[in-house]
Amino acid sequence: MTETSNDRDALIDAARDAASRAYAPYSGFHVGAALLLRNGDVVTGANVENASYGLTLCAETAAVAKIANEGWIGELAEVAIVGGRPDGDALLGGAPVNPCGRCRQILNEAAERSKTDILVHCASGDGTAVKTYRLSELLPAAFGPKDLGLID
Ligand code: THU
Repeated sequence: MTETSNDRDALIDAARDAASRAYAPYSGFHVGAALLLRNGDVVTGANVENASYGLTLCAETAAVAKIANEGWIGELAEVAIVGGRPDGDALLGGAPVNPCGRCRQILNEAAERSKTDILVHCASGDGTAVKTYRLSELLPAAFGPKDLGLID
């Protein structure tokens, strides 16, 4: 889709900065996520891997955990995700990184609570290739708090 927002480039920059704090010694793939809140604040996360590989936390999950723990899960407006292999202090380019299935579901929790079909900007490591989606395109017919009768 072609929809963009003024926040897009700043949000991608914040995600790239977050990716520099990834702990990814096993895959060598650094991911950063930046969550824009309604009040303009940006909260970031990066992937956290584990010697027991399956326990890895994705960047989006780390970022959503941060906003939930602050009481802001219903304040999400927009998301940017960046991923790539490190090249010195930067990340190599390539294709835009797509959120994994689990992260789509975790983002959906915050999006439903925020009553917004959020924009998700998926960017390459160098930020030059970007694809923007609505979360509903990435996770159609989602299961969420509305299915449990918790929200309208
Ligand atoms: N990763 C994320 O952080 N987010 C995603 O949506 C996709 C994958 C991380 C997990 C792992 O540390 C690395 O990327 C390679 O899969």
